[in-house]
Amino acid sequence: MNLDKLNDSQKKAVEFDGKHLLVIAEAGTGKTRTIIARAAYLISTGVDPVKIQILTFTKRAASEIVTRVKASLDKNQAQNLHGSTFHSWCNQVLIHFPNLFGTKAFTVIDEDDQLGVMKMVCGNNALKFKDIKIKARSLLDIYSFARNTRRNLTESLKIKLFYGANDEEQTKFVAEIKPKVEALLRDYENKKREKKYLDYDDILLVVATRLSKDEGARNIIGGLYEHILVDEMQDTNRVVRKLQFTNNNRLKTQNAWHFARTWATTNRVGEQVQSSSMGCT
Ligand SMILES: Nc1ncnc2c1ncn2[C@@H]1O[C@H](COP(=O)(O)OP(=O)(O)OP(=O)(O)O)[C@@H](O)[C@H]1O
Ligand SMILES: [Mg+2]
Repeated sequence: MNLDKLNDSQKKAVEFDGKHLLVIAEAGTGKTRTIIARAAYLISTGVDPVKIQILTFTKRAASEIVTRVKASLDKNQAQNLHGSTFHSWCNQVLIHFPNLFGTKAFTVIDEDDQLGVMKMVCGNNALKFKDIKIKARSLLDIYSFARNTRRNLTESLKIKLFYGANDEEQTKFVAEIKPKVEALLRDYENKKREKKYLDYDDILLVVATRLSKDEGARNIIGGLYEHILVDEMQDTNRVVRKLQFTNNNRLKTQNAWHFARTWATTNRVGEQVQSSSMGCT
């Protein structure tokens, strides 16, 4: 593994030998390159690629990192390296450990299915007020936004419908429609419950909630990995930041991975603007 193309700060991050590392650096300064080099370095020092999980926001970014790690190593060395989005990783965890998360009887639904359920709930009740019509897709967007950012419905409606504007007319309008939106969202949730559906936001929440509350679950899931490398950490929402592993009794031999506030070590590569993070043995 050739580290010559890295600057000193990048090299330090790549060769870091502690447990947790958060890299904070300006846009375009080489955070993703550092993650790629870190994964390649770990593999070249003997870590089994299966024990490394790369996480980021889009499928494309995840597969690009994996492709670049593979390209930087000898043939097949990184064959079993996995890169996923947070959603697909949580989905895989639920598929492999349904009993651990109590989701055995549930079906994960995609965006089209979600829209179908919301349309079923709305029926002919498309919300129309003056010149604003709130369609099923917008309702889903508002619902997802409120959940992921943990904002209340009033605030979410203001942000989603009026870009956060707060004048008297808009406040009145939001107050007027809120009970109707609330009722539809409640019906949507009831329908999901009745059908035993989990939508994309549910899967994040189910995994994050269980991992944050259940040490046994953390030990099992955390024990699957030695290193979890997260790119685009600055884009994680509040639910994703709730995801954590703390397999305390394994800390000496395996990594524990924490999101957000619990980072043990911070290593600045540049200005405090964006971040990538790595859980390290
Ligand atoms: N040490 C280096 N030497 C030469 N080029 C570098 C170095 N580090 C990064 N680069 C180049 O700089 C560009 C940006 O790198 P990279 O995408 O890793 O940055 P980033 O911090 O992840 O950016 P973003 O904030 O957009 O996610 C890439 O073309 C990369 O190859
Ligand atoms: Mg990047």
